[in-house]
Amino acid sequence: MAELSGQWVMVTGASGFVGGALVRHLAAAGVRVRALVRDRAKAGYIAGVEGVEVVDGDLGNELSLRKAAEDCAVVFHVAAALGGSPEQQARVNVEGTRALAIAAAQMRVRRLVHVSSIAVYGFDGLPDVIDEDTRPSASRYAYTLTKRAAESVLRLVCSETGLKCSIVRPGMIYGPRSHPWTVQMHDLATRWPVIPFIGDGRGYLSPIHIDDVVSMCVLAATHPQAVGQAFNASADPGVTWRDFLGGYARLSGRPVRWLGVPKPLVGLMLPLARRFSSPESLLVDTPAVLDHFTRRVVYSTAKARRVLGWQPRWGIEDGLADALAWLKSTPQP
Ligand SMILES: NC(=O)c1ccc[n+]([C@@H]2O[C@H](COP(=O)([O-])OP(=O)(O)OC[C@H]3O[C@@H](n4cnc5c(N)ncnc54)[C@H](OP(=O)(O)O)[C@@H]3O)[C@@H](O)[C@H]2O)c1
Repeated sequence: MAELSGQWVMVTGASGFVGGALVRHLAAAGVRVRALVRDRAKAGYIAGVEGVEVVDGDLGNELSLRKAAEDCAVVFHVAAALGGSPEQQARVNVEGTRALAIAAAQMRVRRLVHVSSIAVYGFDGLPDVIDEDTRPSASRYAYTLTKRAAESVLRLVCSETGLKCSIVRPGMIYGPRSHPWTVQMHDLATRWPVIPFIGDGRGYLSPIHIDDVVSMCVLAATHPQAVGQAFNASADPGVTWRDFLGGYARLSGRPVRWLGVPKPLVGLMLPLARRFSSPESLLVDTPAVLDHFTRRVVYSTAKARRVLGWQPRWGIEDGLADALAWLKSTPQP
């Protein structure tokens, strides 16, 4: 991080969960951060933080991207549409990434770090251990398709312009301020006397604490060997759903009673659920997703450890406790 101290960097998605954490981490280390936001009303977490300049912009507005990237050593591209229609996700995730990469190249930014996702691998028939060279599987899920296309478009702009980039592919990011993986999963784990879930809960999910994603983004921006490379950021070794949800329950002083809904029964309900779901729902990739979540699939982080020297700070037990401490101290709407 010393390399970036005193320099300007730009962060997209700064009003969001990951972007906000990254902005604060960089500013605390003496980096000067230009935080791109669409709506200042959503930027309370980073507003007024020393070293942070909040600027207005949108991935659809090329001029705003060029202005924000001016004099920046690094652009951290965190913004994305995590939902919305397939067309909207394509516009933000693919065309927005293209526009940002072109702006970064024009402004002679030294490196662009792109926050992607393990979703790029898809879900169907994946091997038990997924590394960065694993061939992606067929998918109809708009988020998977557009995050995958974003990586391709970024690599294309890099090859055409000489821009240097590196890519971080996080799993399910939990910790302070995570809505889906802390607020909602804690709710699922503690709302009823039992924890309802598919199957016996011994399949793996792929959690990663927000601090460990941020530390990998910083290494991806500064390590010489990171250029042109992608890195998984996930739990390795894997964490079972039972340990994850059960951990939230146990640490909240609740009994851990598992109510496993048999997978065949869930399978029977899928066609009906799919019929009433939207075209951007993860259900479009069922039954592959159902199989995936009940299997023990690990997204290997061996490459990040070997190449970048990255070490996650948080084990699952400590990480959940940290998430819970935040949850208890923060009134939820
Ligand atoms: N959260 C996870 O578990 C997870 C896991 C793997 C990968 N990721 C990746 O991590 C990144 C951040 O995710 P997150 O959880 O922090 O999501 P988030 O909280 O929803 O933040 C998304 C950010 O992107 C911004 N944004 C959306 N459309 C934009 C546009 N057209 N122009 C400029 N900014 C735009 C949003 O701005 P507004 O506030 O104005 O809407 C928001 O600041 C994404 O790239 C996501 O794919 C997340």
